[in-house]
Amino acid sequence: MAEQNKEIVLSGIRATGNLHLGNYYGALRKFVAVQDDYDCNFFIADLHALTTNPDPAQLHANVKSILAEYLAAGLDPEKSTIFVQSDVPEIAEMYLLLNMHVGIGELMRTTSFKDKARKALGITPSADNDSDEAFEKEIIGAATNKRVNAGLLTYPTLMAVDILIQKATKVPVGKDQLQHLELTRRFARRFNSFYGVELFPEPSDFNFGGAPVKVPGLDGSGKMGKSEGNCIYLIDDPKVLRKKVMRAVTDEGPQAPDSPLSEPIANLFTLLELTSTPEVVKHFRDAYADCSIRYGDLKKQLAEDILAVTTPIRERINDILADEAYLSRVVKMGAERARERAANTLSEMRHIMGIRKF
Ligand code: TRP
Repeated sequence: MAEQNKEIVLSGIRATGNLHLGNYYGALRKFVAVQDDYDCNFFIADLHALTTNPDPAQLHANVKSILAEYLAAGLDPEKSTIFVQSDVPEIAEMYLLLNMHVGIGELMRTTSFKDKARKALGITPSADNDSDEAFEKEIIGAATNKRVNAGLLTYPTLMAVDILIQKATKVPVGKDQLQHLELTRRFARRFNSFYGVELFPEPSDFNFGGAPVKVPGLDGSGKMGKSEGNCIYLIDDPKVLRKKVMRAVTDEGPQAPDSPLSEPIANLFTLLELTSTPEVVKHFRDAYADCSIRYGDLKKQLAEDILAVTTPIRERINDILADEAYLSRVVKMGAERARERAANTLSEMRHIMGIRKF
């Protein structure tokens, strides 16, 4: 339950696609572990998902499945505030107010905006268009239609509002979101100093008090990510999951005893370390060291150990998805709690800005 004296942790996930092992080990499992120690707030960012104009039925289905996945993985609606962003209309209003103190220049220079705008327009980054000035010119020249919408530009404002409206101080996010968090701090400071108030605390990045867990993908390099197409999803059924693991990229095998691991093999060992017992990991490490390893055996073992983790979660996901009444109870309860604090912050903010009742 939310308590006054606990630090406020808040994180959100965009309602796109399903949750994968990277989300699970990188964030979700840790979130579950700290539910008793912090005032935890977790939400599904469906308004943020609108920036890419998703199919309406698909958007709703995504919100539902992410909700079910989070609950299935152990987020407890009694301990944490779990809500859907659009269920808190105060967020939309504060977004309007905060935008009055956000510069379009600083938004245009945000890396995520540049990446997304370029992608939408089919422009590849190059030395010619990399400078801020060149980029701004290019965007303004090219984006006369709605391919680059204003919501995409003001994405950081909306994210700052998510955080500031709850007065959260600890925000677990991935590396790609650190710039947005920096902007959030800047907007908070700017608002406070413009009006000479102490309304917003400055939030910081939060790693749940441990080292970040990097979960690699199955394609030989880099981390597991939705857009990389290298994911194992929590809802993958055993057949699909085994197939994915058996197809993971490997190399030609160790050529001499005690060879260093290539990246694809190191990645498989990382996954094995996350999901297997130390004995199993040691067995395959020894087999690699003395060149007796068969990658097929390693993959078979890995697939079974991943399944041992995901199977109970997958079963719970399906049970929860079938229980509409439970889902709607959870989001209602979450929205009520989230709105209480949001309404307080918004009313303070309105008053500070001079939007006052007669
Ligand atoms: N932008 C985040 C992402 O894409 C999702 C998000 C929206 C978020 N609002 C937030 C994360 C507030 C933390 C806090 O991952």
